Amino acid sequence: MPLVPMKQILDEAIKGNYGVGAFNVNNMEQIQGIMRAAKELNSPVILQASRGALKYTNLYYIKHLVLAAVEDNPDIPIALHLDHGNSLETCKLAIELGFTSVMIDGSLKEDGKTPTSFEENVEVTKKVVEYAHKFGVTVEGELGTLGGIEDGVGSGKVKLTDPDEAARFIKLTGVDALALAIGTSHGAYKFKAEPKLALNIVSAVKTKAPNTPLVMHGSSSVPKELIDIINKYGGELKHTMGVPMESIKEAIKLGVKKINVDTDGRLAMTGAIRKFLAENPSEFDPRTYFGAARQAVYEVVKQKMIDFGSAGHGSDYKPMTLEEAKRFYNI
Ligand code: G3H
Ligand code: 13P
Ligand code: ZN
Repeated sequence: MPLVPMKQILDEAIKGNYGVGAFNVNNMEQIQGIMRAAKELNSPVILQASRGALKYTNLYYIKHLVLAAVEDNPDIPIALHLDHGNSLETCKLAIELGFTSVMIDGSLKEDGKTPTSFEENVEVTKKVVEYAHKFGVTVEGELGTLGGIEDGVGSGKVKLTDPDEAARFIKLTGVDALALAIGTSHGAYKFKAEPKLALNIVSAVKTKAPNTPLVMHGSSSVPKELIDIINKYGGELKHTMGVPMESIKEAIKLGVKKINVDTDGRLAMTGAIRKFLAENPSEFDPRTYFGAARQAVYEVVKQKMIDFGSAGHGSDYKPMTLEEAKRFYNI
């Protein structure tokens, strides 16, 4: 099975009313951990690479690692998605590399920090849609700004999505999926206490644009067990709270179909490596501790695929090529 356009995975998720995890990847062990979970559960999956990931892997390594995952998992629908593209140029680069989906985060200027106006966002998103659809590539846009700046993405000023603007934005740009700001933020330090997300925004946008899959960024749950493992073995993370799984499940019921997770995978890997090295001080074969990290990613992702409801849906549909996807767009 070739890489599939993300639109197909998300449209199918609308039909089946489940969510699909979009997991950030930067190396082989993360990809293998995620794919083992997807294969065991027969779950569709979105592998996403940020600009940081493209730089870290020198472009070609991420591309070929994902192609290896495709070859190794011929029965699983996999989309390769650019996370937080900051310009048309970055999106073009990802499309050239073979990504089947791109996000243009037009809620922020090219610096990834300064908020844009609605009009500026529409302008850049529309350009990306016009370009990407010619290749059958899916486009995710974003309206509103998330909180949280510690991972370098985000303005630090929260501006929740206005549902009327969201409906206009979808019409004006032709995006395939839209990321909403509903009170989540990137990174480990999201909330000091049990959060209340603005799920009414999800329902309102869903009513106005029922066919557009909605996206939730900053969806890591930051489980206490993972923080505790890191701290037990020498780490120094502060007490923090993420997005409770119950809120994510509720958001999925209301219209969120793509759930972005990076931080929980990072925490799992870091804890596993710290623990392994602390318990095996004479070990120096990297395969042992990277192997422990891979196992930890597998466990975290497996549970999420079950909770999001994507487990069991990997063979519901015939995969579509980018050539076929062009028909979505009458190209
Ligand atoms: O939304 C951002 C993701 O967590 C990616 O983070 O830019 O450090 O790769 P990164
Ligand atoms: P987390 O930091 O909550 O994992 O969010 C990741 C994300 O939204 C990537 O785009
Ligand atoms: Zn994000």
